[in-house]
Amino acid sequence: MTARPVRVICCGQIVMDHSFNVDEIEAAPSKVTARRYHAGVGGMSAHAAIAVARLGGEVSFWGRVGDDQAGEELAAAMAAEGVEISGLKRLAGAQTPLSAVIVDKRGERSIVTYRGNGLSTETDWLPLEALDGAGAVLCDPRWTQGTAAVFAAARARGVASVLDAEKSEMRVLLDLVPLVDHAIFAAPGLRIFAGISNPAEGLKRALASGPLKLAAVTRGEDGTLWLAPGMSRPVELPAFKVVATNTTGAGDVFHGAYALAIAEGQSTAQALRFASAAGALRARDGETPTRAMVDGLLSGG
Ligand SMILES: Nc1ncnc2c1ncn2[C@@H]1O[C@H](COP(=O)(O)OP(=O)(O)OP(=O)(O)O)[C@@H](O)[C@H]1O
Ligand SMILES: [Mg+2]
Repeated sequence: MTARPVRVICCGQIVMDHSFNVDEIEAAPSKVTARRYHAGVGGMSAHAAIAVARLGGEVSFWGRVGDDQAGEELAAAMAAEGVEISGLKRLAGAQTPLSAVIVDKRGERSIVTYRGNGLSTETDWLPLEALDGAGAVLCDPRWTQGTAAVFAAARARGVASVLDAEKSEMRVLLDLVPLVDHAIFAAPGLRIFAGISNPAEGLKRALASGPLKLAAVTRGEDGTLWLAPGMSRPVELPAFKVVATNTTGAGDVFHGAYALAIAEGQSTAQALRFASAAGALRARDGETPTRAMVDGLLSGG
């Protein structure tokens, strides 16, 4: 581990999440009263960037919002978390992505996402030279062109890259997975990528698709399955036992924590354990944990 903070770059999705807590998510047609409401930063890479900051890393976020109110509020919220946002592009006339997140009393969530409008897919403005000296990059599949450009530039510089391989179009996953060093799938993302439901076989296919150092799949409270070159079969990493109150964003926090740990020079196995602790605390509290909280859980506290 290094003494000074390492730098991570997160690039991809940023969304204004409108979160409603309800007792039960009823089948449609329904009218339900929420017990609590709040609006805040959502989106895989944006959420992961906040996790990196809270866990003690230096972090920049690159992505796109509109020049509307949601875009302005997201920029302010990211800056308030200590995320460097000079690479957060505000596109004239575009609409910022929005989500409705409905969380039930068991902490399970349903999400409706509007992916925005007029968000140009151009990548020529990305400050790729800022990858020099970075410890790791983390991207997601929602802006394919941006992710492909960042992964290519990271590979050219020898900067470690991580993909949050969430549920997406199959083509997008087939294009992006071979470009990355560490592909960490959500369970539906792996099924779509591999076209089969057997996760062990899916991970083997992912690893064989390019010069990957890791293929893994997160499975909520059932833990993480991972495979690295030279291993004959995937290994299970059990989840930390917690009582979940809100599982929204556990995967995003897991990915941010993993990227930071890799940037710090932790081994794959250590980084996965660190990420798993961060994800479990996020599911327990519905809040992104600090470094001290993660270290406490890792040392048995
Ligand atoms: N209920 C839980 N108990 C313990 N750990 C959890 C729980 N939920 C999530 N985690 C941890 O976080 C990791 C990522 O969670 P999960 O697999 O649910 O992500 P996801 O499907 O990408 O969801 P999202 O992107 O909405 O956060 C899990 O592999 C696990 O380590
Ligand atoms: Mg996820």
